[in-house]
Amino acid sequence: MLDVERIRKDFPILRTKMNGKPLIYLDSTATSQKPRQVINAISRFYRSYNANIHRGIYQIAEKATDEYIDSKTVLAKFIGAKGYREIVYVRNATEAINLAVLSWGDKNVVEGDRILISKMEHHSNIVPWQMLAKKKNAVLDYIELRDGKTIDMGDYAKKLEGRPKIVAFTHASNVLGTINDAQLMTKMAHEAGAMVLVDGAQSAPHMRVSMREIGCDFFALSGHKMLAPTGIGALYAKEELLEEMPPVYGGGDMIRSVGFQESTWNELPWKFESGTQNIEGGIGMKAAIRYLKKLGMDDIREHEKDLTGYALKRLCELDYVKVYGPGIKDIDHRLGVIAFGIDGVHSHDAAAIFDSEGIAIRSGHHCAMPLVREIINEAAVSRMSFYIYNTKQEIDIAVEAIGKARKMFARNASPV
Ligand SMILES: Cc1ncc(COP(=O)(O)O)c(C=O)c1O
Repeated sequence: MLDVERIRKDFPILRTKMNGKPLIYLDSTATSQKPRQVINAISRFYRSYNANIHRGIYQIAEKATDEYIDSKTVLAKFIGAKGYREIVYVRNATEAINLAVLSWGDKNVVEGDRILISKMEHHSNIVPWQMLAKKKNAVLDYIELRDGKTIDMGDYAKKLEGRPKIVAFTHASNVLGTINDAQLMTKMAHEAGAMVLVDGAQSAPHMRVSMREIGCDFFALSGHKMLAPTGIGALYAKEELLEEMPPVYGGGDMIRSVGFQESTWNELPWKFESGTQNIEGGIGMKAAIRYLKKLGMDDIREHEKDLTGYALKRLCELDYVKVYGPGIKDIDHRLGVIAFGIDGVHSHDAAAIFDSEGIAIRSGHHCAMPLVREIINEAAVSRMSFYIYNTKQEIDIAVEAIGKARKMFARNASPV
């Protein structure tokens, strides 16, 4: 298990107060906090070897270039990819999905093709496909959910009979916490002749992921959710696929040669990275992965499972709290993300009470409007989420805050 007290010392922000109370950060699904090891790596870059990459033939430029490339090698290893040629750096998971859509999708999807996604997707794995479907006159189809919690595998098998060209689904839901069986879903899609994109924005920070095992064609992730800075994310794609895909953005760095009328493209992965890249982001990503690896992804997962089980138990004791997503018996297939509603209390009011107690939680549609509005059937829900630095004591304080919110806002609330 993790030594959480020691981990907490690495996160300067956890010494901050919010509204005069020690900060309790329960919003790592939105973005994670950053350890000093990541902050220091970025600071070191600016203090001692800031230079543009790829072009300088002087020592600090070579060091910056080496560090940037090395960060991709480290990330490739971390997610079980073959090597850095399969890692395209982008701003975030959203841009990673858009890149796959704009490059592979634009080249391969034609009128009448089917695109299959699930009903538990984040907007970033819905809207780019809607845009592509509209542009190409393709059909956007959805995999149904079972009890509003998990992928309906029967419906998935049936929809695959429609022979979609690509299937895109989240590895783990940012609302329900559901962890999907990406390996099985990929295998089924491939057998049906479809390509597969997995949205790994919520899985990569919290559990061991392996491209070799999952076998997907594309995988998207965001650095800022896994201890790295904002503005760095990655699209993993199989090398042979990236070779065939056209670049989306033209300009410096992504070319091998440029003439007045024609240009040729750089080798992988640089063909997809035009202009000056987020060098500090790459360096921060390397430091973040090093930190996660040192803790061990299996131990991180166990810690979060422990917290999630505890929180689910505490919340289930409150008859005025409704928890969404899989229950405690399915904890092996559930992330440390708990969406909930307090009977008679709007989620924004609950968030305000949490804020006054120094607790950061999120409320709203969580960028999953179709799921929250049409499946969960609420305008907004509250969400608390856990990471390596959270404790059971923090969950206890959050549960107390729920009681306060209920007392303050719920009309006709029974005494709590
Ligand atoms: C499941 C999922 N996919 C994609 C994203 C988009 O991530 P980003 O905003 O970093 O692009 C998020 C963000 O919360 C997410 O939870």
